[in-house]
Amino acid sequence: MNILRPTPHNIALAAEAIRAGELVVIPTETVYGLACDAFNPAAIAKVYAAKGRPASNPLIVHIAEFRDLTSVAAEVPLAAMTLARKFWPGPLTLVLERADTLPKEVSAGLRTVGVRMPSHPVAQLLIEAAHTALAAPSANPFTRLTPTRARHVDEKLAAQAAFVLDGGDSAMGIESTVVDMTQGLPEVLRLGAISRADLEAAMGIPFVIAEERDGPQRSPGTHEKHYSPKAKLIVADAVGDADAGLVFHEPKNDNQIQMPAAPKEFAKRLYSELHELDSRGLDTILVEAPPVTLEWEAIWDRLRRAAKA
Ligand code: TXA
Ligand code: MG
Repeated sequence: MNILRPTPHNIALAAEAIRAGELVVIPTETVYGLACDAFNPAAIAKVYAAKGRPASNPLIVHIAEFRDLTSVAAEVPLAAMTLARKFWPGPLTLVLERADTLPKEVSAGLRTVGVRMPSHPVAQLLIEAAHTALAAPSANPFTRLTPTRARHVDEKLAAQAAFVLDGGDSAMGIESTVVDMTQGLPEVLRLGAISRADLEAAMGIPFVIAEERDGPQRSPGTHEKHYSPKAKLIVADAVGDADAGLVFHEPKNDNQIQMPAAPKEFAKRLYSELHELDSRGLDTILVEAPPVTLEWEAIWDRLRRAAKA
């Protein structure tokens, strides 16, 4: 795996690779992404192939400045602008009408596009150096665990990229919150690093979760099985002293890891600790059930999918 420190020289090399239609694994504040030039359909095809991702699942486009929005989105409703001003740069993805100049392949043929402005300085520097927007899904093979540190990137996937830029541990540890802004009222398509309470406080209105209401679903990427380690993952009310897993108490054996009791801290470490346990070749990983409260809803979403057989 070609892991590079994010020096100015290496960021310039990575930008050149992007310009040349190659793939680069990049750090973001949420998780690592598998990035390419969002305006290059051949490069986009390589991203889908490297992930083994179904062609029906759209990619998120990453920009570095507000003025880049006009090159990727055809229309930015006032409510979207309000959310962008409040949460960008940061882990919020807004689904907007796609600009005609952006290839339809980036959003799996949809008329919309998911856009976000990452806050990770390495991601920002790379986007600026490449003079383009970056299409980047999370850098995990389809349905598998997402990497939140450079050495957790799957080797086969990394082999499809020119470089892996090392930006340290992702600060949030879970993916961005995806909100559809094209339907009048905003709708949460994927829970994530920004909580529903934060969104509701910013807008003063309730945010509905698409999966929880009746009617047609518009979130093509929310597969039931997702984020899964190789080991079988089970969410359990109690983890036995001899079991392997993530626990809230003092570890009772070498294959137990104590997790923080605060949801943000828990989210930050969730994928990396699962990666760590999974690298030990265990059959089963238990995760002690966190509280069933709104603060934990994004984490519950990930645990529920990771536990799907
Ligand atoms: O934090 C993140 O969002 C990371 C980092 C790398 O930015 N990226 C990420 O991308 O998680 P990905 O491809 O693993 O997940 C993108 C999610 C999927 O659920 C996809 O369906 C949804 O965003 N999405 C993207 N564009 C969309 C669109 N136009 N309409 C509806 N959903 C969209
Ligand atoms: Mg993903």
